[in-house]
Order: sequence, then structure tokens, then C-alpha cells
Amino acid sequence: MLNKNKDLLTRTEQIRLHKTTRRSFILNNAFIKHLSDLFKARFSYIYIPTWEENRLEDILKKISTTKEIIKTERDLYTWTSTKGLIKKGEKNELVSNTKDPMKALSFIEKYENPSVFMLKDFHVFFGYNNSQPDPNVIRRLRDLSPVIKNGNSPKNIVFTSPVVCLPIELQKDMTILEFDLPAYEDIMKVLNDIIDQNKDTGKIKFEINDYVKERLVKAAQGLTLQEAENAFARAMAHDGCLNIKDVKVIFEEKQQIIRKTGILEFINTELNMDDVGGLENLKRWLTKRNKSWQDKAKKYSIPAPKGVLITGVPGCGKSLVAKSISSMWQLPLLRLDMGRIFQGIVGSSEENMRKAISTAEAVAPSILWIDEIEKGFSGSGGRGDSGTSARIFGTFLTWMQEKKKPVFVVATANNINALPSEFLRKGRFDEIFFVDIPTQREREAILLVHLVKRLKNKDILGDFKISKNFVEKLASITEGFTGAELEQIVISALFEGFSEERNIRPDDFLKAVKDTIPLSETMKENILSIRSWANLRAVSATSKEDRKDYSDNIEEFETKEDIYQNRGGRTLDI
Ligand SMILES: Nc1ncnc2c1ncn2[C@@H]1O[C@H](COP(=O)(O)OP(=O)(O)OP(=O)(O)O)[C@@H](O)[C@H]1O
Ligand SMILES: [Mg+2]
Repeated sequence: MLNKNKDLLTRTEQIRLHKTTRRSFILNNAFIKHLSDLFKARFSYIYIPTWEENRLEDILKKISTTKEIIKTERDLYTWTSTKGLIKKGEKNELVSNTKDPMKALSFIEKYENPSVFMLKDFHVFFGYNNSQPDPNVIRRLRDLSPVIKNGNSPKNIVFTSPVVCLPIELQKDMTILEFDLPAYEDIMKVLNDIIDQNKDTGKIKFEINDYVKERLVKAAQGLTLQEAENAFARAMAHDGCLNIKDVKVIFEEKQQIIRKTGILEFINTELNMDDVGGLENLKRWLTKRNKSWQDKAKKYSIPAPKGVLITGVPGCGKSLVAKSISSMWQLPLLRLDMGRIFQGIVGSSEENMRKAISTAEAVAPSILWIDEIEKGFSGSGGRGDSGTSARIFGTFLTWMQEKKKPVFVVATANNINALPSEFLRKGRFDEIFFVDIPTQREREAILLVHLVKRLKNKDILGDFKISKNFVEKLASITEGFTGAELEQIVISALFEGFSEERNIRPDDFLKAVKDTIPLSETMKENILSIRSWANLRAVSATSKEDRKDYSDNIEEFETKEDIYQNRGGRTLDI
């Protein structure tokens, strides 16, 4: 095994070593325009958080040496604490004695030519991860900013590090610029290069056409160029062949990366909409939006769907639906753990939110599932923690409103009263759905799902049959039961048979029903209150046909007994 791995590594290396020329990347034009505008407008300090120093350096090189972009061409220098300043050019020239950040800054101050300085990992002087910030470096930078701005020749400093860490003293001087992960074309170029460089060696078999290439590149979107290159190399090395099957290898690589962020979780689920009983309106709504992020939707000028908020009674399938969308739409599902955002184990809360959003965008099209969203955002007027929660909430809402990338947000919530009203304003979510306790017809559907799922083995069935009659009867005596409780009825009945080592009997189910007091009995007040909220603001997840025997008249909610005759949420035909 060990040998095999070693072999694999060597082959991966070989594939990579075949590169002879340094690539010129297809550069992101919007980013170049933005950055060069900042340069021309003499912004002294620009902070660009990224892992991709090389790609950024290439872009800086291109900007600083292309007259059409920057007008006044500039010298480009990089700085690291291990080498000091290096002047980039045909041959890279080391500037001696500039490893010390203060000395490097002195050099920059005195330098007279138009120039761009790329300072790598200065965040270690800014107090990253609760370390001690360096007050001298910070003060020096504050003093230097106006000098650079008003100097005779244009000069800009670009700070770059994997995370943003900015001392309060420098916040007004610094402009933070987001550096998007590589675009489709960038990754395609990497793939084409790697194919070109390996195709004549005869060592790798290529079973590819444009379609396969597109699938491979799409699978790699969300990775940095280096990661994409590694993933392609590994995909080839692992069986000496590059073909459609490698989409899976690349996809695994991507999951790995997401796992590393620690805030998002990649959910692999087999669940699909057939596992959800009832909720037909919600299912139809979701079906209509399937594929709307694909190119063919552009013809209709359809905006990519933003997201859906699913509220309702606990145990009725909110989380279940969220998980099932992934297989319905064939998109990766990422769960955002609001608790982790605030715990600050990994980084500051704001940083965490930013990271979660950018990762979800990087793997777009994707589904971002925020379960029990109210736990994170309720009381965002200030959690007593200097408004951190309010700020994160603001970041999230702005992103929801303005996001361009196809990240579909599925938020689920029980306690809607705890949700701030800004959340519910139009333009944030495409729709708000209300999931009530299931109606007769929905209970039939839910029972059927669980009966079919669990009663697979003929040996335990005996004479028992899952007949229409039986399911209807069981549904009729379980008014007020939630989906989770109905599932539990099936399980309890199975236990009866199992404990006596005999076949399942209809009585087992009836007994289980008798022994259960549904939560709705004790939650009447609660259900009434969320229903009256939902009647004004949310669409019923249940279809009109499925609730035809029930009333949706708000007046009738006056008497508490009526919770079983009514259902909440606006009825809409979808
Ligand atoms: N409509 C349904 N169809 C089939 N099974 C259901 C349905 N609703 C609930 N269940 C069963 O109950 C379990 C729990 O449901 P789920 O976690 O989706 O409820 P929820 O609405 O998210 O509740 P909570 O508010 O407690 O998070 C599901 O995993 C499923 O087995
Ligand atoms: Mg849930």
C-alpha cells in the first residue's frame, strides 16, 4: 500500500514536471480594471486576501507593465520576511538588508520610481490570531500613507495574506479588495496545458472531448489554480488515464477543501424528494426552479433563484426537504453551522461569515443550507457583544440581496418570531413557505414512505400488506401527528413484532398510535400563534388538493380545538 502511494506520488510529480513553460493566465478583467483604477487614483494601501500569491503576482506584473492599463508603467517589488524585497523583472534582483519590515518600509519611502510593492503576510505584524501586533510597524505605516499619496511618483502597496487581519489604526487607510477564485477559463487553460504537456509522453491515456473537459473544469471550480492543477495531475496519475470518471476524483478534492474551512459541512445524502411525503406545493415550486442557473435559462432572462425560507412546526420535514433539494437539483449541498460562526474557534465571527460565503460561491452552483437560522440571527439588534451578531446579519443580508453567483440559500426556522423583520422583506428570499402538521392526505403519503422504506423484508410481513385501505385508516387516526411522529409509529410497530419474534400485524400500528400523545396536543398555543404569523407572510407548503378538507379561515382559529380542522399559510396554486 505504502509503495503504491509512493509510486502514485512520483507519477504525480512527473506529470507536473512536464511543464516547461510558465503559464500566462487568462486574467480576470474586471478585477484588473478595479485594481488598476485604485492604483491610478493613488490608493496607498490595498489589502487583497488570497491563498493564491502567484496568480496575484502575475496580475500585478501585468498591470504594472502594461501601458494601456496603468498609463504610467511601474516597477514591481515583492517582500517576504525570509527574502526581503525583490525587484521583479528579467532577473529578480534582491534588495539587501530589507528582511526587517521597518527597513523595507524605509526603502519604499525613499524609492523614487513609479512602483507597486506587494508585501506578503504582513498580517503577522497586525495581531493575527490574538498575537501581539507590532506597534512600530503599524505606526510606521500610518505615517507612510500620506507620504506615498502625496509623493512625486505614483506608488502603491498591496498587502496580501490568506486571511484579512487589520488593526483598527489602519482601517481608514486600507482598501480591501476581494480576489475571486480562478474563473472557468483559467482552469480550462490549466487543464489544456497539462494535457498538451503530457499527451506526447505516451504515459497517460486521454479519453476526452469538449464535454468531458467541461465537466472536469466545472468540477474543479472553487479550487485555486494550484489545487486544480494538483487535482488534475492526481486524476491522471491514479489510473494512468484522464476521462469522465475523473470528475469524481476532482469533486472529492473539492470536498476536502471545504472540510478544511471548518464552518461549512459538505452533506452527502441519498435522500431525494420521494422520501418526502406531502408538501407538494413546496416540491412543485422547487421543481420549477430546477436548472434555472443553467445557460439555457439565460434565454428567458431568468434571474438565478436566491433562496427559500422554510418555516413551520417542528418535525414536519423542513430539514428533510432541504437535504432532498440537493439530489433533485444535482448540486452540492453545504450546511452552514451558525453556532460555529459565532464560536470564533476558527477565526473572528465576521471572517467566518465571509469565508463561508466565499466558499459557497466558489463551488457555485451550489445550495447553502442554514438550518435553524433564527438561532444565529435572532436578537441581532445586539447580542450584548458589541453588535457582532448585527454586523454578521448585515453582511449576510447584503450578500443575499446582491449576490451574483448561483448559490441557492435554503434557510429553515421554527421560531419565526425571533427572526428580524428585515429578513423577510421582499428581495431577500424568493419565497417563504410554511410547513404545518400534515393533512390526512399528507399523512397517507408520509406513512407510505416509511412503511415502504422499512417493511422491505418479506419474512416479517406474513399476511400483512401495505394496502391503500390500511394506510388511509392509519392516517385517519393520526390527525395532529407530525411527520417525525408518524415515522416513529412505524418504528414502534416494528419493535412489537421484533420483540416477540413474529410477523408484523395491523394491531401493532394501532397500539403505537394509542400510546402516542402527539406534540401538537401540548403545543396548541404555539401552533396557533405561528399559523397566524404564517397566514400573513408565508405560502402553505401543502398543496390545495391536499388541504381541501381543511379550513384556512383565520377567524376559526379562535377556538383552540380547531387546530386540527385548520391549516396555516396562504394557499397558492404552484
Ligand atoms: N413530510 C415528511 N415526509 C417523510 N418523512 C418525514 C416528513 N416530515 C418528517 N419526516 C420524518 O421525520 C424526521 C424529522 O423531520 P425533519 O428533521 O425534517 O423535521 P424539521 O421540520 O426539520 O424539524 P425541526 O424543526 O425539529 O428541525 C425526518 O427525518 C423524516 O424521517
Ligand atoms: Mg430541522
